[in-house]
Amino acid sequence: MSDRPPFWEPWAGTATLPAALLLGEHVTHALFERTGSMFALWLPGVGRSVMVRDPAVVRELLLAPEEAVDDVAANLVQTPVIGPQGLAVLAPEANRALRRLMTPALRPQSRERLRAEAESLARDVLAGCPLKVPFALGPRLRTATMGATLAQVTGVAEAARAAEWNRVLHRMFQQAVSAEITVRYMLRGAGGLAWWPSFRRHMGECDALVYGEIARRRRCGDDRDDVLGALMRARDERGARLTDRVLRDQVMSLFAGARTTTATGLAWLFERVARHPDVLRRVAEGDEAYADAVCYEALRVRPPVAFFGRALRRPVELGGRTVRPGTAVIVHIRALHHHPGLYPDPAAFRPERWLGRRPGGYGWMPFGGGRRTCVGDRMALALMAAFLRVFAESVTIAPGVPGDEAVRWLAISNVPGDDCRLVLTPR
Ligand code: HEM
Repeated sequence: MSDRPPFWEPWAGTATLPAALLLGEHVTHALFERTGSMFALWLPGVGRSVMVRDPAVVRELLLAPEEAVDDVAANLVQTPVIGPQGLAVLAPEANRALRRLMTPALRPQSRERLRAEAESLARDVLAGCPLKVPFALGPRLRTATMGATLAQVTGVAEAARAAEWNRVLHRMFQQAVSAEITVRYMLRGAGGLAWWPSFRRHMGECDALVYGEIARRRRCGDDRDDVLGALMRARDERGARLTDRVLRDQVMSLFAGARTTTATGLAWLFERVARHPDVLRRVAEGDEAYADAVCYEALRVRPPVAFFGRALRRPVELGGRTVRPGTAVIVHIRALHHHPGLYPDPAAFRPERWLGRRPGGYGWMPFGGGRRTCVGDRMALALMAAFLRVFAESVTIAPGVPGDEAVRWLAISNVPGDDCRLVLTPR
């Protein structure tokens, strides 16, 4: 008989650290250095958890059968915003069906159109930026990317209406993407979420806009070529259309998924190139493959989302250990992207790593992976490449603060500590 326990049980040993996650990046890094590629921790509100950064383990996790791995549990914290039928919290079959409906509008065949729209947005942002003085680009990026998502998802593009949507969404998301919602979610059993009048009021204003737009389209037979249009045209095998509630939950899911991520990806892209003038120079020469490589590398060294998670329903073999059901497995994206076995000199910003090679496999995962991989990846990459090319053609970019911007935590995002403070100078 084997004397190995049936399950890996590091929780009983020295590797267990209560809430190590909350103690910050350097603690996580030190734990990975000490324990190899995976360590255990106890997270309040989540329980027994394993943090991983090894691509082989990530592969095992993402390819594990659907019955063994629950990919919804880690996203449930989003339910107050996206609703019970939102894409990120839907059971696999319903999730797949909705993803199929959304994909053509989110990942259009015509990359030229996506590119033209992204470049036009980048030019508008650049035209509004002050020159030769330090300023924070972050807020402008957030407004611009929210506008782009709004147009792509709901078709709302007219300035006054877009401003109204942005104002209402911003007020709600400020509360929803905060430390407060995390604490309230942990205390949900004691009514932490049920009693939150200001959030309910802000959510009610968002709902009025989304349901109002759905009703307007139904009334006028407005059949547009955006994500909401694609969902409204869909019929099931009995000819029934999606309910307003399902439509609303998908719109809010896309807003929630896009809101801080894309703007943060752009902010880190500019933060990095401002500190690497030779990189910007090469982009300005018009080398498009190199511009794409710069975006991949920015998403590697500074991934906007810190981690993604799955929960085990059955025992799963990960890295040669049998991990117990009920465990949350968290893929630490930044640690994966800084794995010294995958990337020589991992902290260095070197776009050349991606020349002649597209990111893939399980070592580059800014958009997560497997069945739940991000539906907005194509749109985000198109925006990043377009902003980079447009800015590089017209201005030089210098840091607006000395040194690198610190990595600051905001919910599960890693945002630049000075909100992307830069100095732009016309070429
Ligand atoms: C740089 C920009 C972005 C980053 C870094 C990012 C990152 C991610 C990550 C890490 C996940 C979790 C995937 C997983 O669990 O495997 C995710 C899911 C998701 N993202 Fe994004 N995202 C970005 C942009 C967008 C955009 C522009 C949209 C919408 C237009 C979007 C919508 C979503 C949605 C709806 C999900 C849930 C998918 C599902 O559960 O089926 N994201 N994203």
